[in-house]
Amino acid sequence: PEPGWTTRADVVIVGSGIAGLTAALRLREHVEKVLVVTKTVLNAGSTQWAQGGIAAALGPEDTPEEHEVDTLVAGAGACDRDAVRALVTEGPEAVHELIALGTNFDLDAAGELSLTREGGHHRDRIAHAGGDATGAEIQRALIAAIEAAPDIEVIQHALAVDLLLAPPEQDGGVAGLTLHVIGEGVRDGVGAVHCRAVVLASGGLGQVFSQTTNPAVSTGDGMALALRAGATLRDLEFVQFHPTVMYLGPESRGQQPLISEAVRGEGAFLVDDEGTRFMQGVHELADLAPRDVVAKAIMKRMLETGRPHMWLDARHLGAEFWERRFPTILATARSHGVDPVTELIPVAPACHYASGGVRTDLDGRTDLPGLYATGEVACSGVHGANRLASNSLLEGLVFSRRIAAVLPGELRPWQDVAADGRTAGLVTGAARRDLQETMTSKVGVLRSAGGLAEATGLLDKLTGQVAEQVDQDSWETTNLLTISTALADAAALREETRGSHWRDDFPERDDARWAGHFDVSMSDGVT
Ligand code: SIN
Repeated sequence: PEPGWTTRADVVIVGSGIAGLTAALRLREHVEKVLVVTKTVLNAGSTQWAQGGIAAALGPEDTPEEHEVDTLVAGAGACDRDAVRALVTEGPEAVHELIALGTNFDLDAAGELSLTREGGHHRDRIAHAGGDATGAEIQRALIAAIEAAPDIEVIQHALAVDLLLAPPEQDGGVAGLTLHVIGEGVRDGVGAVHCRAVVLASGGLGQVFSQTTNPAVSTGDGMALALRAGATLRDLEFVQFHPTVMYLGPESRGQQPLISEAVRGEGAFLVDDEGTRFMQGVHELADLAPRDVVAKAIMKRMLETGRPHMWLDARHLGAEFWERRFPTILATARSHGVDPVTELIPVAPACHYASGGVRTDLDGRTDLPGLYATGEVACSGVHGANRLASNSLLEGLVFSRRIAAVLPGELRPWQDVAADGRTAGLVTGAARRDLQETMTSKVGVLRSAGGLAEATGLLDKLTGQVAEQVDQDSWETTNLLTISTALADAAALREETRGSHWRDDFPERDDARWAGHFDVSMSDGVT
């Protein structure tokens, strides 16, 4: 069917976290019309939920080179060195720009940025705000700046559906985007934006799994859209499980409360039911080892003891410190009936971050002309097989700045490609729970050839559950299924254990055979 409405913008930005809003604010200086579209409301994405902070070599003793080494080590041999170099060298300036924009980071007694430490870092280099509400403060400052820039148009409740592409003989590049808008007045329903470039900044895929720290909106929409349009995805098998997510019981699904690594950075430690500090001797950084090491050690202990969770002991931090440094986590834990000042916190790993995504170059270009990607949706190469803590906000910030530096000079000519408000072939939202359970049990923290093959079969069956109506749930479930299938295929092919990809049947890292990447595209499948 024809779309119900159309509009035009030079650049459409999909997503409104740190990556999307940074790109919008920078691009408006050089591009006439910037449009931001976001699936629900401006602050619903993952940025708002970031606790620990944003990493950069900001301290007097620190250097980008040291930040680079920690990033490369965490990435387990799968990072792109040039991308990491760009991240760490441009990081400090980018953070200072956030400060200039009005972000209030926490300061120490001398009035300098208060810096903390998280897993995998050998220095205190994590800037934070409101104690443990860093993302919320950054999101607040960015939204204030967007609201003060009336030339940037924002459409909320707009699910990005598909790219409109120029004919292949012209280059097959981006000419527009179809949207499904729910309840925005004249723009209600399926519509089309004709544009000269699209920047994907739509976040991750955490809802692929039953338990995740990601908000409900993280359904892999940008990755699925890019894949359908012919772009290449990379490193999908590297999904990071955060070690310390509060365990709320076997029936709890969806977004779960994160207990920031910064709590361990300030001295908390993991124990099992017997009170044994099982991280000691596992890694030189013990409880502050890189995230994949800690998540694996917790899972191993859970499997050995048959327990559904381990414990985080942070009682010795004391009431005053908890209230000042981690007010959000304290309130959340208490709301779930656990007082971290006097009790151990039950914790287990849960899906946290997609290290892979839409493959980009150093300036955020994908392999589809006119399509750029930044933030969690992208695979810029900075995270490799395991993202270093607090490098994600930084990636969105740095690579959106890089995109804004090149994109105005690369704007494509307008092309009025006919829009198709596609409504066929969607999977019913009722399939979502089975999908998540399949992915959690067979493609989660611990993987094996048998489990991955079973997952592929089960996912394949779900494609037959066709939706009777087109709504956000059916679009999201379709996207989740597209991404889950690609992720399971890539995980099956990588017959080694590396970073966050843990194979029970191939427990060692094997640089001789598997040091490369798996790319996924519609034309070539997983290669
Ligand atoms: C945390 O605060 O532990 C999360 C930080 C991150 O994911 O980088």
